[in-house]
Amino acid sequence: MTNHGANAAAGTIGIHDLSFATTQFVLPHTELARYNGTDIGKYHIGIGQQAMSVPAVDEDIVTMAAAAAAPVIARHGTDGIRTVVFATESSIDQAKAAGVYVHTLLGLPTSTRVVELKQACYAGTAALQFALGLVHRDPTQRILVIASDVSKYDADSPGEATQGAAAVAMLVSADPALLHIEEPSGLFTADVMDFWRPNYRETALVDGQESISAYLQAVEGAWKDYGEQGGRALGEFHAICYHQPFTKMAHKAHRHLLRCCGEDTDEAVVDRVLGRTTAYNAVVGNSYTASVYLGLAALLDETDEDLTGRPIGFLSYGSGSVAEFFAGTVVPGYHAHLRTAAHREAVDRRQTVDYPAYRELRDNSLPADGGDHMLPAQTGGPYRLAGTSGHKRLYEPR
Ligand code: CAA
Repeated sequence: MTNHGANAAAGTIGIHDLSFATTQFVLPHTELARYNGTDIGKYHIGIGQQAMSVPAVDEDIVTMAAAAAAPVIARHGTDGIRTVVFATESSIDQAKAAGVYVHTLLGLPTSTRVVELKQACYAGTAALQFALGLVHRDPTQRILVIASDVSKYDADSPGEATQGAAAVAMLVSADPALLHIEEPSGLFTADVMDFWRPNYRETALVDGQESISAYLQAVEGAWKDYGEQGGRALGEFHAICYHQPFTKMAHKAHRHLLRCCGEDTDEAVVDRVLGRTTAYNAVVGNSYTASVYLGLAALLDETDEDLTGRPIGFLSYGSGSVAEFFAGTVVPGYHAHLRTAAHREAVDRRQTVDYPAYRELRDNSLPADGGDHMLPAQTGGPYRLAGTSGHKRLYEPR
């Protein structure tokens, strides 16, 4: 029995608006390859990456999040927004939710609950699912879901080529303009140490090959549960948005899923289902919690054909590990609500840096002495981290 029409009883709920932001700077993989002597084919073909976003010294998960969410608030106002759920793996504080800073920068009402969620790259999907539940309970409410991350591995490690940074803001509501999200979800959790970041570290630790196997195992597990919960058949999906730490991972994941389903694993079949979902991730890099939703943005923005009514699959994976497979259908008229020009501008306006400049930016860290430290103005984005004082981060509109 299928129950993927179950939302209909409560009215359709899903993504009403979607906006993303990224950083001021970008490092092309040609530049990384030139520095470390790697054949560029490994980056362009082997991992499927062209470039990665690099934050300015006055950019972080809060400034990117506010930049992503500001156009959503400008278009829809704050009425009915009573919850902000902020998902991140690269949290800036052990106690305070990063979303509280965003709440202030955006001038949201005090009558709002704000919370931060964590489970590696999966947390953006947890935030989305929590938002769907809240709207189901009260369809007059709209929930601001934000996923924002800076992906950082040790310099000169294999992970360095899979860094990146971006934030996605989504407004979740009843009668959404972009995507109805369906029930059910397929879920999977397994305790593995494939990628993690102890509180005392700025960079993630990773067992690269183990992380790829863990991801594929999670795809299989989440898909199996999705089927058992009455989900759609694989052939019904027009496209699938995968979590993309590097875009080749989406190819590996879909090939694995086809193999699990006993289907043909031809590269042409894989390409057809991935479609344009990798377009932004290939030039932005890994944005952890935001990655799968950059995949959705790319699909909607960059696909020429009309996607109305098409079922889209989502596979969200967070190391450690938790995964979820779910589906949505594209809403009639969605095209009028896209932010294609702004998204392309966010990617195109980045300034290219060479390897030494990138190293200087990535090695920069905030002083931990509690003194007053003002930061130079580098970002061209709408918000900046002005500095720190008394161990407090100071944000301001630019
Ligand atoms: N031309 C074309 N292809 C080439 C090539 C060349 N000249 N040289 C190498 N390649 C290919 C290799 O054959 C390989 O392809 P396959 O995977 O299809 O076999 C690919 O390029 C990568 O080569 P290696 O496996 O040798 O690369 P590596 O050991 O340097 O590491 C990595 C790659 C494991 C992804 C590493 O970048 C890493 O650890 N990244 C961080 C972890 C990560 O992203 N894991 C993904 C799953 S975990 C997750 O999804 C959560 C998350 O966001 C972190």
